[in-house]
Amino acid sequence: DDAVTVDLQERSYHVLVGSDLLSRIERIAEAGNLQPPFAVVHDESVESSGKLVCERLSRLGKSERKSVPSGEASKNIEQAISLWHWLAEMAMPRNGTLFAVGGGVVGDLVGFVAATYMRGIAYAQIPTTLLAMVDSAIGGKTAIDLPHAKNLVGAFHQPSLVVSDLITLKTMPDRAFIAGLAEVVKYGVIADPVLLQYLRDNADLILRRHPLALRAIIARSASVKASVVSLDEREQTGLRMILNYGHTFGHALEAATNFQLLHGEAVAIGMTAEAYLAWRLGWCDREVLDEQSEVLRALELPTKLKEVSEPVTEPDIATLTETMQRDKKRKGSLVRFALPKRFGETAVTDFPIPDDLIADAWAFVLR
Ligand SMILES: NC(=O)c1ccc[n+]([C@@H]2O[C@H](COP(=O)([O-])OP(=O)(O)OC[C@H]3O[C@@H](n4cnc5c(N)ncnc54)[C@H](O)[C@@H]3O)[C@@H](O)[C@H]2O)c1
Ligand SMILES: [Zn+2]
Repeated sequence: DDAVTVDLQERSYHVLVGSDLLSRIERIAEAGNLQPPFAVVHDESVESSGKLVCERLSRLGKSERKSVPSGEASKNIEQAISLWHWLAEMAMPRNGTLFAVGGGVVGDLVGFVAATYMRGIAYAQIPTTLLAMVDSAIGGKTAIDLPHAKNLVGAFHQPSLVVSDLITLKTMPDRAFIAGLAEVVKYGVIADPVLLQYLRDNADLILRRHPLALRAIIARSASVKASVVSLDEREQTGLRMILNYGHTFGHALEAATNFQLLHGEAVAIGMTAEAYLAWRLGWCDREVLDEQSEVLRALELPTKLKEVSEPVTEPDIATLTETMQRDKKRKGSLVRFALPKRFGETAVTDFPIPDDLIADAWAFVLR
């Protein structure tokens, strides 16, 4: 297996990537010094993994299990309340450990409950989607949604362990699996040209979900995320902003299309728009844009709205620009972009980008 360390002094932890890790999770938990009692929360769509984890952990001490309905709607205060009550009813002590088995929704929700129950207890992330393995399970950002906006209430609370068992990815639907690859391309572009080359050379193996190819790209992605988080744990130095590559356009596109696109699809199109912007600003060569598009297409990701596998109502550029402005108001400053200078080197804009340039970038991906 591969092990990546998230280096945060006394809050440091390991990210393990390998096959068949859940069937020996009790030994991994023991080695990681995770204390019973255990409370295992899993997405309803990965019940067998949740059961396996709970059953194996029960060899170390008391272990209970609870299922959460699938989907973003579960990242809300009602689910948090029901988990707090569940922990209180089992008399979960300060030194017990929560386990989050599922995608980013369960990871963010359980992380938030772990951050708040008794002012913070330990938790482990067992991501079961590609997106969660390469992104949401690592870094300690936890949250629930409000009707007003996603992730509006939350806390920074690092997990004590992340265990990515590749076997769990076998049941992922194709569209969601492929969408998760957008974040992997992102890591390649912003920080790891070797990863980008690997994606280009091994697209077929990756799409067939060959375990060795999955392990390689997930471990490398985890290590990029881990190093950025180590350098900017709470998004204060601005370095963590490079992880937003493709996301300023991507988020606006998701919102303006009423979330008809998967997050990763919006990010793939967003990276195309932002690479276009970087080229127009003279930050990078045209090859960066073209080669990134080649990699995205090799992985069956869209570079333009029309290439999305399901039909999407096309938003107009005015709506998209307005959505971006709203985001800017919330953040209270100018819209900043993390843009590539070359593969592996990213910088953040610190000047206003002319509206007509933004409109050109939208036109480039809507055409
Ligand atoms: N904390 C962070 O830093 C961070 C970063 C990125 C995204 N996020 C959050 O992550 C969430 C998105 O994560 P996600 O894409 O994993 O979504 P998700 O958790 O909703 O999972 C996607 C779908 O896959 C199903 N599923 C999960 N594992 C499966 C498996 N192994 N086989 C088959 N189906 C499976 C789920 O039931 C769900 O329907 C969003 O809420 C987003 O805000 C958080
Ligand atoms: Zn993302």
